[in-house]
This record gives sequence, structure tokens and C-alpha cells, in this order.
Amino acid sequence: MRATVFHGTNGEIAEFHEDVEVADPGPGEVKVQIHAAGVCHSDLSAMNGTLPMPAPCVLGHEGAGEVVEVGEGVGQVAVGDHVIVAWTPPCGVCRACRRGEPNLCVQIFYNIAGAAKFSQGGSPVFGFAGTGTFAEQMVIPEQGVVKIPDDVPYEIAALIGCGVTTGVGAALNTAKVKPGSSVVVYGAGGVGIAAIQGARVAGAAEIVAVDTVDSKLKEAQRFGATRGVQPGEVDAANMEINEGEGFDYSFECIGLPQTIRAAYDAVRRGGTAVIVGAGRSDAMVEFNAFELFFMEKKLLGSYYGSADVRTEFHRLIRLWKAGRLDLEGMITSRLDISQAQEAFDAMKRGEVIRQVLTFAG
Ligand SMILES: NC(=O)c1ccc[n+]([C@@H]2O[C@H](COP(=O)([O-])OP(=O)(O)OC[C@H]3O[C@@H](n4cnc5c(N)ncnc54)[C@H](O)[C@@H]3O)[C@@H](O)[C@H]2O)c1
Ligand SMILES: [Zn+2]
Ligand SMILES: [Zn+2]
Repeated sequence: MRATVFHGTNGEIAEFHEDVEVADPGPGEVKVQIHAAGVCHSDLSAMNGTLPMPAPCVLGHEGAGEVVEVGEGVGQVAVGDHVIVAWTPPCGVCRACRRGEPNLCVQIFYNIAGAAKFSQGGSPVFGFAGTGTFAEQMVIPEQGVVKIPDDVPYEIAALIGCGVTTGVGAALNTAKVKPGSSVVVYGAGGVGIAAIQGARVAGAAEIVAVDTVDSKLKEAQRFGATRGVQPGEVDAANMEINEGEGFDYSFECIGLPQTIRAAYDAVRRGGTAVIVGAGRSDAMVEFNAFELFFMEKKLLGSYYGSADVRTEFHRLIRLWKAGRLDLEGMITSRLDISQAQEAFDAMKRGEVIRQVLTFAG
């Protein structure tokens, strides 16, 4: 079958192959025919070493499709069900799951990340984060798929699989943005635009988008940003909106030390800075010992939107159906699965919100 593979040997190259094979679903596992996959920056980060990933691996973790085969004992989904892939499947029984933090469950995640469900010429091929949605078919434990209504287009469902849940969830679940508040979002890619939309749903009064690409600043305003500024213009926006006191909330959706530090600096005393961007483990961010207590800012990490995928995907679908989330508008382009490298090149230029890979041809 067709799939996009990162071989780990020659830089950020996503190779398209037609001879990748996928395993049969074992007990408790399902096989999904992927119909649409979104291109998230984390896939690029797997190729440049920001996020360590075993290679070779089928890229992609944002996707939706149809269950085509189920292994022994599968009870939550059946053949024919439309599903969204969840890249951190909640096991439902571990300590994190039981205390209501299923996004932090690692029981299934660690297992699938190290188990190769794909192969090529008889050699094992891993899947990104144990998934691998840039392939016509993939195999995952049943907890790694969430059944959705048949009338949700696959490309909309795909975006919910990572970027939308991550960004909207950061605003609604991690920060719990209050109505009337002021918000600044660093990075207006798929995740940042989703955070902007989440802040809008929560009733924020002012939402400032920050990006280095001018076209993004304009686009962000289609999704609820009240203004878009270059990084050097945040202070001026803060003067106008908050009389210089700082924003109530900031969301860092890039993953760089300088923008994480900027997101911390941008909030007022007592404000909340949420770090969504996924940076390198050797990239350090500095805080002084005085400001951390004196400013009483809340510095919050946000992983997979602090969301329970089993209920969050449906909530997001309802918000989309009600016209409260614009997900169609987030799709910059649709490319064939063979064009993943083009998608990554466009992402590196900062030109896109979300690109969707399709499997029609
Ligand atoms: N926390 C999580 O669970 C989680 C989940 C998904 C993705 N992520 C991470 O979120 C981040 C964003 O992902 P994405 O898919 O939206 O990426 P993207 O590449 O689509 O968007 C990033 C945006 O940031 C802008 N940007 C880059 N450097 C900048 C700078 N110095 N100042 C201002 N703007 C800058 C780019 O122009 C671009 O618009 C990535 O780090 C990704 O790995 C985290
Ligand atoms: Zn992602
Ligand atoms: Zn668990």
C-alpha cells in the first residue's frame, strides 16, 4: 500500500512508497482505512530530531477513516464505523485515567510507539507515536480510535485528531479562558488558529495573534483574532488593550525558547501562560527565582488539549456543526498522499494553516 516514510538517514525527507505493508489486527486491535490525514508540525519535528522517534517510521498522527477489520475481542467499534485516530489512546484503568487525566495515560502509548505495525521488504517500520496516518491503512488498539457520526467529512474529522483538539483544548480545558478576557496567541499555524478559535468560543474579548508571517496575521482574523501583530509589536498591543499590565492569557503554539519566554512575559501578574508548542529536550528556557513567585503567573503545559478524546472529539464536532468552530476554513490545501514532502516544505515557509493529505488516486 501507499505510505509516506521517514527513514531517519538523510535529513527532513519524507519518502513516498507504494510497497509498505501493514500487519493484521491482533487481539483488541483494529485496522483503519485512512481517508484523510492532517499535516501537523510534530511530524516535521520527528524528522528534524526535535521529537525523538524510532526510524524508519510512517509519518502522520492526525487522521480519520473507516474501520475495515477488527481483531479478537474488540467491542467498542465495528467494521464500517467512521473513526478519528487518537495518538494517545486512554487505557481507561491506569492512575492517570482514573483521576481524570486520560491525555496523560502512557499505558498504550508507550507500547504502540515501540511496536512496528508496518513493514517494507520484510523489515519493520514504526508508526509516528504508534500511529502512522500517512498510510492507506494502519493498525491500532481499539482505544486509539473514537467512533464519530457518518456525516462528518473525513478531512474535518482528521483535523480534530490533533491540531484542533490541542488548540481548542488548550483554551477551554488547560487555561479555562474566562469570558471578557484578553488573550495573546504566539504562532498562527493549525494549533495556534485552533487556540484562537477556542478563546473565541470561551468568550475572550481581545485575541491577539502573533506570527512572523504577515499573511498569517490577516488570516487569523477570520478565526476570531481581533488583531494580528509581528512579535515586536506585542508591547504596543498590550499598551492599547491592557494599559500595559499584560494579557490575562497567552498561548505559545511554536515550541521555541524565545517564544515561550515571550509568552510568559506577555501575561499580567497572576495571568496564565500556556505552553502548547513542542520543543527540544535540550532547549532551555530561563526564569529568575524572583519573578516566579512575585509575579504569581501560572505557567501551564498543555498536552493533547488536556482533553479526554472519548468525549472531546464529539464536543468539537458539535461546536463545528453549530458553526462555532470554522474547520473547513483551516484547510489551506489538499494534497495527494504522494505529496507529503511538498506539504512539509510549505509548512517550513510558514505559509499554511492545515494541509490535508488525501488517498483517492
Ligand atoms: N502540546 C501538544 O500536545 C501538541 C500537539 C500538536 C502539536 N504541538 C506543537 O504545536 C506547535 C505548532 O504546531 P502547528 O502544526 O500549528 O505548526 P505550524 O508550523 O503550522 O505553525 C507554526 C506557526 O508559528 C509561526 N512562527 C514560527 N516561528 C515563529 C516566531 N519566532 N515568532 C512568531 N511566530 C513564529 C509560523 O510562521 C507558523 O505560522 C508545534 O511545536 C507542534 O509540534 C503540540
Ligand atoms: Zn499533532
Ligand atoms: Zn490509562
